[in-house]
Amino acid sequence: MQISRRALQKSLILFHNIQKWPAALAEEMAQACYVKKDFITEAEEKSLLTEVEPHMKRLRYEKSHWDDAIHLYREREQRKWRDENLDVISRIRSESFGANTEHLTYVHILDLHKDGVIKPHIDSIRYCGDVITGVSLLSDAIMRLRHKDQKDELVVDLLMPRRSLYRLGGPGRYDFTHEVLDETESVWQGQKVPRDRRISIICRDLPKLSNRAIQEEEIKLKPIPEEN
Ligand code: OGA
Ligand code: MN
Repeated sequence: MQISRRALQKSLILFHNIQKWPAALAEEMAQACYVKKDFITEAEEKSLLTEVEPHMKRLRYEKSHWDDAIHLYREREQRKWRDENLDVISRIRSESFGANTEHLTYVHILDLHKDGVIKPHIDSIRYCGDVITGVSLLSDAIMRLRHKDQKDELVVDLLMPRRSLYRLGGPGRYDFTHEVLDETESVWQGQKVPRDRRISIICRDLPKLSNRAIQEEEIKLKPIPEEN
């Protein structure tokens, strides 16, 4: 079936060279990895910002992550939330995790500078389970997924508009790296996507028991990437 041009333009997932993809893999990716536009309202965005901003302002942007995956960012983890924001966090979790999934109680807040970039990496299986999910505040951005063994052949982009939710699961979690493009690379269907400062509120489920680096209570969420 031919997807209409209109539908394609509205779609938030874009496979590069779809004809080169094994159909089953493309299908699996589209099921497990997606973006939902307007997942939170403007008021909810504002409310989250009011809670996270005062903490963030005290931190300086770091030039580089310890393993070089993230540039110009500041981050923190938060367990306790104001009730109204906790409602939003719960909605993110129930949207993206399966029923009865154990999730990390900490939420990861990543503040990426306008000129910041997240390079290709896979989150460590010791600190995160099958799903990575988050909402984007303040700016649109493009997340690019590349197959770990076919970096230039199997590539798919997710457009993450401000206030949207993204979910990475299935092969998109373990077999693909993810990255957030810088402004020069942020082009969607031929149109530039301006990159401003972006704050992401990221929820992860618990690593499989056998992979856990440390006991649950001690897990301090660090999105330690394994690969570049
Ligand atoms: C990470 C990461 C994505 C985001 O921190 O490991 O990939 O949405 N973040 O900021
Ligand atoms: Mn990551």
